[in-house]
Amino acid sequence: MRVVILGSGRGSNAEAVLHAQQDGRLGAARVVQILSDKPDAGILALGSRFGVPASYVDPAPFKTKLEGPGEDRFIDAIQAARADLVVLAGFMRVLKPKFLGAFAGQIINLHPSLLPAFPGLDGIGQAFRAGVNVTGCTVHYVTLEVDAGRIIEQTRVPVDPGDTIETLAAKVHAAEHALLPAVIARLSQAAR
Ligand code: GAR
Repeated sequence: MRVVILGSGRGSNAEAVLHAQQDGRLGAARVVQILSDKPDAGILALGSRFGVPASYVDPAPFKTKLEGPGEDRFIDAIQAARADLVVLAGFMRVLKPKFLGAFAGQIINLHPSLLPAFPGLDGIGQAFRAGVNVTGCTVHYVTLEVDAGRIIEQTRVPVDPGDTIETLAAKVHAAEHALLPAVIARLSQAAR
């Protein structure tokens, strides 16, 4: 299973997936390409560290969605990598019908809350401010409605009385780093 990872940020989840691959914990999946919509994103530095091609793709003309020429450039890059699975690991853009249609049923997203609770931006902060006892992270299929596609797997993370936003974020990120590689490995086995 050829995996392309898309991200806009530091890439700690992509790094967890690449470590899993190195350790033989990614099943029949192999990361073949990393793509970012931010030229200086940390995720792009993983390419040389792990020997995986990593490229910036110009997402213009929009700021928060992927549509039009930028969408076409991403579609072309992913098709050129012959992806079987597209993994959104902190890719902070809303996807549109053309992109979703090009990879129908093959796009998964990682989100830092127990969806359907706290979709959208800052899932960890939303949960913290709401004062919930439990939050977590979710891997789900991507559909037009943001953060609403079929849930594949979730991990629960308790919010302890002494937690700050920082300690909670660290726990949710640790849960994400375990969940995402495990889901990719499982999908790769199911696809065999
Ligand atoms: C992760 O916490 C991921 O759940 C979140 O961005 C972070 C990326 O971190 N994604 C979203 O909020 C999507 N709505 P990373 O760049 O270190 O992997």
